[in-house]
Amino acid sequence: MKRLNLIKIAAVAVFVLAVAGFGFLFAQRSETQTRRPEPTPEKTLADAREVAGYKNWTKVNDKPQYMASKVAVMCASPTQSQLDRDAKDPHKDKFINVYVNDTGKTEMLTKKSPQFPAGTVIVKEKLPAADSTTPELLTVMIKRDKGFNPEVGDWEFMTVDGTGTKITARGQLENCRECHLDYSKTDFVTRVYLPADVQSKLK
Ligand code: HEC
Repeated sequence: MKRLNLIKIAAVAVFVLAVAGFGFLFAQRSETQTRRPEPTPEKTLADAREVAGYKNWTKVNDKPQYMASKVAVMCASPTQSQLDRDAKDPHKDKFINVYVNDTGKTEMLTKKSPQFPAGTVIVKEKLPAADSTTPELLTVMIKRDKGFNPEVGDWEFMTVDGTGTKITARGQLENCRECHLDYSKTDFVTRVYLPADVQSKLK
């Protein structure tokens, strides 16, 4: 009799462990399935090589440019949760600085209808206030080779944390494309922050 009880207990224990085990495996699986596909495997610290040293590039605007809050939110973040967070933020008006590397400098500052060469990198800092020296985050456009993202000038879109080291999203990000499609005449780059004297000399 006693022995039978033991066997029963053991059987129940095995059953419970098996169920728990399957549950665990299943949870793991569905987590990997729901995770967004990463366009590139690298997403670690100091991986944002493309923006390294951007503060030494050509700053395009003369003083930090005010941007409307809606654009500040949309032109910053690839995720809905950030949108929700910013929508609740009472201090959501932002300032920006824009930098361009040497490869894209001439097109950016002198051409009426720029066609940026591959290798151009444009970095936009989003600042919490006009006098802040530490950005909240960076949005980046990197000109890739022909065919990378044909609908929108083969630009790669990228978001990077404020330290300029950690990539938070990158690729042919659809939500970035939406607005930038409106600027097809200027190779999908807005240039709304160009100083008036630069603007007037574009050829
Ligand atoms: C709501 C429309 C909108 C969306 C969505 C948007 N942008 Fe922008 N973007 C703008 C506007 C407008 C500017 C001009 C500067 C400003 O007002 O911030 C701009 C400027 C930029 C610039 C500076 C170069 C330029 O085009 O003048 C970069 C880089 C940039 N955006 C990257 C991104 C990235 C990366 C995303 C996706 C995470 C994104 N944008 C999504 C509207 C948008």
